[in-house]
Amino acid sequence: MNILITGGLGYIGSHTVIECISNNHNVIIVDNLYNSSIEVLHRLNKFLNKDIKFYRTDMQNIVDFEKVFIENKIDAVIHFAGYKAVGESVKKPLKYYDNNIGITINLLKLMEKYNVKKIIFSSSATVYKESEILPLTENMPLGVTNPYGRSKLIIEDILQDIAHADNEFKVVILRYFNPIGAHPCGMFGEENNGIPNNLMPYIVKVAKGELEYLRVFGDDYNTKDGTGVRDYIHVVDLAAAHIKAIKAFDFESNVNIYNIGTGKGYSVLEIINNFEKATGIKIPYKVVERRGGDIGEYYADSQKAKKELNFETKYGILEMCTDAWNYEKGNN
Ligand code: WQD
Repeated sequence: MNILITGGLGYIGSHTVIECISNNHNVIIVDNLYNSSIEVLHRLNKFLNKDIKFYRTDMQNIVDFEKVFIENKIDAVIHFAGYKAVGESVKKPLKYYDNNIGITINLLKLMEKYNVKKIIFSSSATVYKESEILPLTENMPLGVTNPYGRSKLIIEDILQDIAHADNEFKVVILRYFNPIGAHPCGMFGEENNGIPNNLMPYIVKVAKGELEYLRVFGDDYNTKDGTGVRDYIHVVDLAAAHIKAIKAFDFESNVNIYNIGTGKGYSVLEIINNFEKATGIKIPYKVVERRGGDIGEYYADSQKAKKELNFETKYGILEMCTDAWNYEKGNN
């Protein structure tokens, strides 16, 4: 298939480009380099021995964006592009709604105009309401506490409304849990221009000596050791899920939603311990107050993706830590 990947030079996008091309799909990448760099394209071409079609395009500019559809016959879209910092979204909600929803509307208008009827959407576990009942299944109540998560939920609703109006329009929604790690080749990883947001980028900065210690945001949650528990999934496993998701385009229902996680929860302290075991590097930490907006524990019930997509994760927590450090050592 000819697959348009928006945000294809980003962390998850670049790993998905590798999976798509390795599975003999043709890929066209659109990215405005807001949270990535052209170096990622050079590395993808080198690693895959390809000359991947790339458009440096701001999807907000629909005239510019339309060139992609004029110049390429697109069979399906994998839509990653969007801002994703939860904390920033609370401070700048309009920036998040304007961009994340605006670029999606432009994409959908062009898909309609050029009769592109298949989309896989990069959603997030943050669309789920905080729940005492775990693991989370796809039919659990939805509810968001920040503009980033709400932009994801709004896009999910837009896609489902279009699918209900046009049964030829095929939507696969993948709700990611916590992607970490990097491709074992060490050439692709989580770019952190400046201060990172997420746990693993902080840990590798401590491991490199760029940060003195890790702040552990609270140890008074109702969890196994009081620290936050999340479902961490290797980014290569997450990328592979997108290839498996393609088969859902042929399912009876034209809207299919899947949790993409491992089904296991790890606490912050367990991640620290596993990182130290995997790398031999001590990670000093200090417990500080909880981070606003955090919840104590969530992890996926990933049975639906296993049953319907035959998707199963291959990598464990030690590989996630080893590969994250392997990338950081060689690149930042
Ligand atoms: C994980 C755990 C923190 C940093 C976010 C987004 C989500 C998705 C993944 C985009 C929590 C603790 C963290 C630190 C810490 N992104 N922590 N010290 O918040 O689960 O999810 O990223 O889709 O949408 O919400 O990920 O990595 O920030 O935090 O103790 O320096 O690590 O409290 O328990 P989170 P995270």
